[in-house]
Amino acid sequence: MEKQSTVLVGVTGCIAAYKSCEIVRGLQKRGCRVKVVMTEHATHFVDPLTFRSLTHEPVAVGLFDDPSDPIHHISLAEEADVFLIAPCTANVAAKMACGIADDLLTTTALACTAPLVVAPAMNVHMYEAEATQRNLRTLKARGARIVEAGSGYLACGDVGRGRLADVDAIVEAALEALEGARRADLAGLSVLVTAGPTEEPVDPVRFLTNRSSGKMGYAVAAAALARGAQVTLVSGPVALEPPAGADVVRVRTACEMLEAARPAFADADIVVFTAAVADLRPAHPADRKLKKGADDALLARIELVSNPDILATLAQERRAGQTVVGFAAETENAVENARVKLETKGADLIVANEVGEGRAFGTDDNQAVLVSRDGERALPLMPKRQLADAILDRALELRAAH
Ligand code: CTP
Repeated sequence: MEKQSTVLVGVTGCIAAYKSCEIVRGLQKRGCRVKVVMTEHATHFVDPLTFRSLTHEPVAVGLFDDPSDPIHHISLAEEADVFLIAPCTANVAAKMACGIADDLLTTTALACTAPLVVAPAMNVHMYEAEATQRNLRTLKARGARIVEAGSGYLACGDVGRGRLADVDAIVEAALEALEGARRADLAGLSVLVTAGPTEEPVDPVRFLTNRSSGKMGYAVAAAALARGAQVTLVSGPVALEPPAGADVVRVRTACEMLEAARPAFADADIVVFTAAVADLRPAHPADRKLKKGADDALLARIELVSNPDILATLAQERRAGQTVVGFAAETENAVENARVKLETKGADLIVANEVGEGRAFGTDDNQAVLVSRDGERALPLMPKRQLADAILDRALELRAAH
């Protein structure tokens, strides 16, 4: 039987510490063994007994708490498959960014080589302070996953960013980190993903767009992160939370998407173009709202021009060693069209899927055929996240074959 993974949950002194109880339960429900380490301040918000009762494990607070284990921070650090600090105060993030180790939690963090997941929670001004943002960036640059704080009503009475992210998102980020540690086959590689639809303005309130939800692209980004890649996600407007740890560039139009993707493309090893880019855009978007009646003639004849093909344009700029993956969403003859797109767009792999009748758009499942020059593989209907892994598996195979 596979060894049960251990998530070490660090709880710091913040009112959101009460949510750590839910996080511990969430991780346990997903099959993890959980151990808890708390700062002294955290024990003012939640009694260690609560965590002890939830985990059936001793709860560590002081550096010298366990007389039977004089180097407790080392044993805790070694036991952890993932170290999740949730909530993480501004102070603890700052200490970790500087390598300060002045209590059990921060000493364990410094000694721990397991993936680090940090879910900050604090007052909006503390969160937005330059120092805090820089500290979080430092941790992220060292490979920590930052589960960004959300916006809303904060315990201090202020409204703004700083609220601990949703419990489910934090549990998911810890599980992703665990999965990645188990399977780090994309470590050291950069992956660029384009995702979602584009919006092409007609006037300040109207635009042309399509039904893409962005789910497939976000799943590819999450899968690549979990497998250890450094991920840039260039996303059109979607209603999804980006996976923790991705560098996200939000864009609106196809032209913006091309410009945002270009610098990341130059550095990327694997590029997955999932975005449903509008093929056409209004040639002369109005800078004021077009009115019924007065502007009927303009509205009736919106002149359209072609958008750049982002995949085809960037594929022409590719360097050796890059693997380029495109999608072909078709209502018919998906595989034949995908074979053509391999050549016309200059891709190594086209993920062909038939859309329509409730398939693909907005759904959580997708059925695809992976088409490359050496043949095709039909996959069964599967969750988009699983398909994302299958696409990355195939991209790695194609890299190895080159
Ligand atoms: N794509 C892109 N930029 C565009 C259009 C498409 O990068 N302007 C990418 C998509 O992200 C996808 C692939 O190209 O990976 C295929 O998209 P699709 O819409 O099928 O391509 P089209 O060339 O628009 O094909 P068709 O008009 O035949 O449907």
